[in-house]
Amino acid sequence: MRLNVAIDGPVGAGKSSVADAVAARLGILHLDTGAMYRALGLTALRRGMDLQDEAAIVALCRGLEISVTHEKDGQHTFVEKEDVTGLIRTPEVSMAASTVSRYAQVRQAMVALQQRLAAETDMLLDGRDICTTVLPHATAKIYLTASPEVRARRRFLEMQAKGSDETYEQVLAEVIRRDEQDMNRAVEPLRRAEDAVLVDSSGMSFEEVVETLLRIVEERRHA
Ligand code: DC
Repeated sequence: MRLNVAIDGPVGAGKSSVADAVAARLGILHLDTGAMYRALGLTALRRGMDLQDEAAIVALCRGLEISVTHEKDGQHTFVEKEDVTGLIRTPEVSMAASTVSRYAQVRQAMVALQQRLAAETDMLLDGRDICTTVLPHATAKIYLTASPEVRARRRFLEMQAKGSDETYEQVLAEVIRRDEQDMNRAVEPLRRAEDAVLVDSSGMSFEEVVETLLRIVEERRHA
């Protein structure tokens, strides 16, 4: 039977790196769905578009070929065959991704693409609506979170390591603003699916979170 693992959670819950490690341990691919919204947000910014113009963003999304490949160094994300992996992690693109992800027709297109990919092979997906919408029948469903301060601290350290000069306060404000937008949008807001297992990683080490998730997957697999 197809193994699909679904992980949702807010900004900076450590989803991406934890998801990478869990997928590697399970020997399956990890699809970072946020990267697809980021690719669309980046393209809209590059074209100088008004992100509030829903019709224009939806038209852009419809005409755009977004694809991913899985390489030794992880997922690569492409827009019209251009590898944009290195361009989609800036704070500006984060906010743009969150804004374009509010539009129902954008979400429909992304969800359809993600479902197609997940049907092809065993896969772990992380995002905001995986447990609720993309894979409601996933083998294991997890909602991974941590307090806003812990999430901002982790993100701040990550950004610092990349040479960013943003302060902790700036990162915290950004985390809160993006949470607010992702949790309060009209279409498929971020929320914990009723049957998703809640994991609060605030007081846990990276390894502990990975082990906890692997345990949940194994339990569900044999349930
Ligand atoms: O996971 P991330 O930070 O890379 O996601 C960027 C934005 O994309 C996030 O703020 C909301 C949106 N997103 C979404 O709406 N649904 C998903 N499955 C993944 C991301």
